[in-house]
Amino acid sequence: MNLFEKMTATARERQRRVVLPEGTEIRTLSAADRIIADGLAKVTLIGNPDDINSLALENNLKNISAATIVNPADEAVIDRYAPILLDLRKSKGMTEEQSRLTAADPLYLGCLMIKAGEADCMVAGAENTTGNVLRAAFQVIKTAPGIDTVSGAFLMVLPEGSPYGTNGILVFADCAVVPDPDAHQLAQIALESAQTARDIAGIEPRVAMLSFSTKGSAKHEKVEKVIAATRFVREADPSLIVDGEMQADAALVPSVAAKKDPGSSVAGRANVLVFPSLEVGNIAYKLVQRLGGVEAIGPVLQGLGAPVNDLSRGASVDDIYKTIIMTCNQN
Ligand code: ACO
Repeated sequence: MNLFEKMTATARERQRRVVLPEGTEIRTLSAADRIIADGLAKVTLIGNPDDINSLALENNLKNISAATIVNPADEAVIDRYAPILLDLRKSKGMTEEQSRLTAADPLYLGCLMIKAGEADCMVAGAENTTGNVLRAAFQVIKTAPGIDTVSGAFLMVLPEGSPYGTNGILVFADCAVVPDPDAHQLAQIALESAQTARDIAGIEPRVAMLSFSTKGSAKHEKVEKVIAATRFVREADPSLIVDGEMQADAALVPSVAAKKDPGSSVAGRANVLVFPSLEVGNIAYKLVQRLGGVEAIGPVLQGLGAPVNDLSRGASVDDIYKTIIMTCNQN
């Protein structure tokens, strides 16, 4: 079974309640139809029920009749969820009127359904920006206990026969969220990525904290940040296999590791790569994806109190279908 087949089997077993706030967006609706047809999750769509039903009819999406539809224009819906939002945001100055307006925003409504325990996870972003999806999740769902920084990882599925990673998979992070992490945030990104490696890829993490220096080969404040982050990770989870600072070749290639970092528990066999900034992580994953013919699954948002994932606005029906399955695999 490949990774996607494994994730599909897990989703079918778990029967997560997934909420899709962009219920009147045709690619999302088509993906929802496939998810229901394949019996992979219980789907809630947010949107005007007449619009959803006529779009389903026009496009012959017969399974949409099995989805739950929540109408954000329904006063009873707002009466139910706005007080939850007000409770969460009044310390930040939100008024009752603002809470009613914001609760009618499908992105917030989806997160509020999760907060109320009526859904398990959410996928959005086919027509909303990353920032808007993330902000709703940050404000309503918030971070998991002990975490204060959400980040985004990619599962890089390497071509068959590749000597790198474990079972042909490398986890890259942060590639999507934190523009300029400090040492504490970088440590959190590493801990979350280790969890993602276990939960989604089913691999035991060996985490490399990447830099342009390997064990003191260069001196710079940016190198110091990675060294401090590595120390914080070890303090937070002494059982995690982590090492740094190291360069990407030392992390991945045994012969380079033998020269630059002999004796490291990670060098030469890393399967989780933690980048020192979003610039590096975002550019690296796109270069590896395009130049290396590598499939990039994600971004997997990690560190939230419940699974929420963001789509690219260029996502295809298949991308949305796979993202829903992946989200149903997150804990
Ligand atoms: N983790 C947890 N909470 C966060 C994080 C984080 N990483 N970032 C912000 N927050 C919280 C804030 O503390 C704040 O909480 P509060 O309102 O309760 O005080 C709330 O989220 C909103 O914060 P803002 O200041 O309004 O949001 P900000 O301007 O910091 O924007 C955002 C956050 C949108 C995630 C920003 O960091 C961002 O744009 N990041 C880059 C996203 C991006 O464009 N990625 C590349 C594209 S994705 C791709 O290519 C795969």
